[in-house]
Amino acid sequence: MNDQVLIFDTTLRDGEQCPGASMNTREKLEVARQLARLKVDIIEAGFPIASDGDFEAVKAIATEIQGPCIAALARTSEKDIIRAGEAIAPAAKRRIHTFSSGSDIHLKTMLNVSRAENIKRSVAAVQLARKYTTDVEYSAQDTTRSDRDYLVELYTAVAEAGATTLNIPDTVGYAIPGEYSALIAFLVANVKVTGVIFSVHCHDDLGMAVANSLAAVQAGARQIECTINGLGERAGNTSLEEVVMALKMRPEIFGGLTTGIDTRQIYPASRLVSHLTGMVVQRNKAIVGDNAFAHESGIHQHGMLKNRANYEIMCAEDVGRTSELTWGKHMGNHAVRKKLEEMGYKLSDDEVRRITDQIKTLADKKKSVYDEDVRAIVEGQFTEVSQVWKLADLTVVTGKQPTATVTLVGVGKKEPVTETGTGDGPIDAMLKTVDHITGTKGSLVDYSVGSVTKGKDAIGEVSVRVEFAGRIVTGKGTSTDIIEASALAYLNALNRYLDEQSRRSPTEKPVL
Ligand code: KIV
Ligand code: ZN
Repeated sequence: MNDQVLIFDTTLRDGEQCPGASMNTREKLEVARQLARLKVDIIEAGFPIASDGDFEAVKAIATEIQGPCIAALARTSEKDIIRAGEAIAPAAKRRIHTFSSGSDIHLKTMLNVSRAENIKRSVAAVQLARKYTTDVEYSAQDTTRSDRDYLVELYTAVAEAGATTLNIPDTVGYAIPGEYSALIAFLVANVKVTGVIFSVHCHDDLGMAVANSLAAVQAGARQIECTINGLGERAGNTSLEEVVMALKMRPEIFGGLTTGIDTRQIYPASRLVSHLTGMVVQRNKAIVGDNAFAHESGIHQHGMLKNRANYEIMCAEDVGRTSELTWGKHMGNHAVRKKLEEMGYKLSDDEVRRITDQIKTLADKKKSVYDEDVRAIVEGQFTEVSQVWKLADLTVVTGKQPTATVTLVGVGKKEPVTETGTGDGPIDAMLKTVDHITGTKGSLVDYSVGSVTKGKDAIGEVSVRVEFAGRIVTGKGTSTDIIEASALAYLNALNRYLDEQSRRSPTEKPVL
């Protein structure tokens, strides 16, 4: 059995299925570039049959990204496989990932097929997929509630038909580690087709996704499907950063198995995905949360000063976290580019120039500029969607009758539009005025403020989830002024919504 665990990242597919986490093609490409820097083995880039937008995003990733294998998801139907095959065609290394179900509950009440018919369709799908690539993955959803002997029959048939990776999903996050590793061991022992790789894909409904994935590796799985920050359907998926660091930190437990991941790219990847999806990472999240390397109690701080190993099992630098004060208004483009590259960002000359200007402006406003401030600026560039509406000016007066005067520049409008409105509070006044100018009506579903760095002059980051005509869209905005950050976040959500509407294809996303 080989000694490498393949990392199959599905942030752009399963992760994107998380409500409100959808990304446009430019954003997906940005994530894919970061996943390539992270050196994941496989990027599941999307589900091409779901919409024209998904197809285009997979194709763009397959065209540009070098290094990782690019995978596309497909049900077992012919049209799904053809669309997936076309989308990944430009990639040097490409995979079709086709899936059906294994449990009787799915077969009877969702797919309405017999066990035998399911095997027939799955085999045909794999054979068709092999016409597009020799790298074919097969998954039967809900294996952890399936009859094991049926799974042996199903997986043996698809492996004999040419599937090279057999993925065993815990679709509903039902398994417990000992039970899941026993299932994997059973399938490894009984699906007697040589040369296939067993893979795991775990959901976190009971908070066991990472534990189950690692237990499966001990039982013989050699591919883990996971996402940045554990993003995914419902409670999410296995968190990439957690499984990778567990394998790295505890080689004695996992028999020296390694991954090819460049762990210094973990934190930049986490920040980027959080920023683009609007899914805030909980402060105490392992590896990438704000508190993961913070030591509060006096005893801990004392111990740390004597020897970091007293309270730290890994170095913050190993996962790409740094916090030196090296930014300032005297930096030139060259120094900014070098430092950004160290942080994992490869940007065009134009982007570096823009970021340098913004760093200088920020350095004029606040005493110290930290890596985190700069990350917020860089990620702000990636969030650029078509700027249908741009904030030109904002004045807010609080008191008995909060009033906002907002000036917006609209694409195709000759003159900026200025209006004044009132509301229950300063933010409400500002939002109502923006709605009035843009002629849209958004309802705030979620609103949170965080500070990007420490100190009274820290940059504030506002995340919003806004409902426009039944569609929930996320937005983020950063500024040293919280009301301005709120206006930027709201406009970011509105622009994303308008952008999405203008690209919308008539094909609806099939439900998995
Ligand atoms: O959770 C699941 O079963 C899936 C499959 C499509 C692999 O996402
Ligand atoms: Zn899944």
